Amino acid sequence: MLVSLYFFNNFFLQSIERPASVQAERLNRVFNYFNIAAAAMLLLVGFLIAFICIKFARKKHDDDEPVQTSGNKKLEALMIGGPTLLLIFFFYQTVTTINAVAPSHPEKRQPDVIITGHQWWWEVNYPASKVITANEVHLPVGQDLLLEMRTADVIHDWWVPELGNKIDVIPGRNNYLSLHINKSGNYTGACSEFCGAQHAWMRIHVVAEPLPAFQQWISENEKSAFPPSDAQAITGARLFQTKTCATCHRIQGTPAAGIEGPDLTHLASRRTLLTGLLKNNAQNLMAWVAHPQQIKTGAHMPDFKFQHDSLNAIVHYLEQLK
Ligand code: CUA
Repeated sequence: MLVSLYFFNNFFLQSIERPASVQAERLNRVFNYFNIAAAAMLLLVGFLIAFICIKFARKKHDDDEPVQTSGNKKLEALMIGGPTLLLIFFFYQTVTTINAVAPSHPEKRQPDVIITGHQWWWEVNYPASKVITANEVHLPVGQDLLLEMRTADVIHDWWVPELGNKIDVIPGRNNYLSLHINKSGNYTGACSEFCGAQHAWMRIHVVAEPLPAFQQWISENEKSAFPPSDAQAITGARLFQTKTCATCHRIQGTPAAGIEGPDLTHLASRRTLLTGLLKNNAQNLMAWVAHPQQIKTGAHMPDFKFQHDSLNAIVHYLEQLK
């Protein structure tokens, strides 16, 4: 129970009320201005309804027609002027916030990260270092980051509430996201555009860490995959190449160079499998490779009907890819 609660807290809770980036703070501020205005309006209207009901209720023996008035210049000016001022205020706040969070001239600069939505996972590519990974997005804190957002198939939508705005990824064009994270931590998001059967399992996990830790992570992930260390893993590595896994998956430092599926060079160092659907451990990996269509129906991973020995060897090999 505690473990699942911990897991839930760490991977699934999302809130725009805990902004952790400069962009999220700006958006949160406007959001709260709207909340305050809406709450004040609710209180005012509620108060007036109650006040009028009590004060102007028909009293006993009060049989006269109520006083009829028409036209009140002051009240009319207040009722038109007040909302107009509010509109101007919110229009100004909205436009300045959109400008503040949108990247300026993104095409003139190399993006720090290229994120590509796939049915149903996220490819994460760091152009400066050639690191390619999937689903767990490591980012440095305190840096002005530019993320280039693409899709390999249909429209998806990137949204990590603590880190700011949503952005659609659209076939045939690149979108950009500015991000300046100011708090280390793990942030969760989800694809926010319906994109097919497993849309609900297209989670995002961002690991924001201080620059030295991020650079350390990059340098570890730049390395080629560990070579298989024992006979079973060597068999697994061979099967990985010959049983066509390598057609879709890349393992840096081996002939496997497929780009249809997630890069597996350091698969074993990720926390979850299948964008958060399963914890990353040998048992779950085994279940996935054995019966992918039972676990994530519709995913592009076919059911290979591996013999038990082959399955064990492949999973044993993958488990060594730290
Ligand atoms: Cu991708 Cu919804």
